Amino acid sequence: MNRAMSRAPLLVVTGTGTGIGKTHVAASLVRAWAARTPASGGGLGIVGLKPIESGVDGSGPTDWETLGQASTFHVTRFRPPYMYALPISPHLAARQRGEAIELANVKEWVDGVRADATGVLVELPGGLFSPLGPGESNASLVQLLEPSAVVLVAPDRLGVLHDVGAATRAARSASVAINGIVLSAPEQPDTSGGTNAAELPLVTDVPVLATFRRAPAQELAREPEAARVLDALLARS
Ligand SMILES: Nc1ncnc2c1ncn2[C@@H]1O[C@H](COP(=O)(O)OP(=O)(O)O)[C@@H](O)[C@H]1O
Ligand SMILES: [Mg+2]
Repeated sequence: MNRAMSRAPLLVVTGTGTGIGKTHVAASLVRAWAARTPASGGGLGIVGLKPIESGVDGSGPTDWETLGQASTFHVTRFRPPYMYALPISPHLAARQRGEAIELANVKEWVDGVRADATGVLVELPGGLFSPLGPGESNASLVQLLEPSAVVLVAPDRLGVLHDVGAATRAARSASVAINGIVLSAPEQPDTSGGTNAAELPLVTDVPVLATFRRAPAQELAREPEAARVLDALLARS
């Protein structure tokens, strides 16, 4: 069956930076989405993808593997187009290898998976405005991917009001639509933890969909916060 024209929903997970919970939130959402998607529903299932990843040096599970384990069909079928060993910005790792990250390749790869899947979630590397090449950033890639919805992950800690305010303003001026914000509890909580969600409307119009507590992704996937985020994002597809 050619499903290329049916356009499975595509959710993009980006964030205010690195090490702030994007993969963890993404894996929770993939698990929650898979749990509510019947195997007989058409398409191969729900898959989480990481098309561009650096720091793939054997020191721990890659984001690609973490998302693959959360997915309903095995992600090794979809080896990412751009994987680099050095834990540096992917654009720099690419340059050091004498290549460039071609956004059109990423788009083609994601669309290929999307044609077979029931639903696709893509985690982008770094923050929304991290560079992918000269004049290009994750924001350019979001525009190219034409996702059903985009979620911005940010840590529930001091400084997040600035970082979300700055990222959402910059997104707006770059004509990148962000549909919701998810806060993720940091490893070291600070006194601002639990207060940030209610203060974010001071700095952005983008709704805060949920705050994810500190827990394994398998647990978070079963909690009402994950359901709320999925409901909001999938309503747009
Ligand atoms: N809400 C959370 N509960 C438990 N662990 C979390 C949570 N958010 C992030 N982590 C952990 O913190 C670390 C960094 O998060 P990660 O999702 O890998 O960040 P990013 O994808 O933004 O680089 C990982 O070890 C991840 O499992
Ligand atoms: Mg990650």
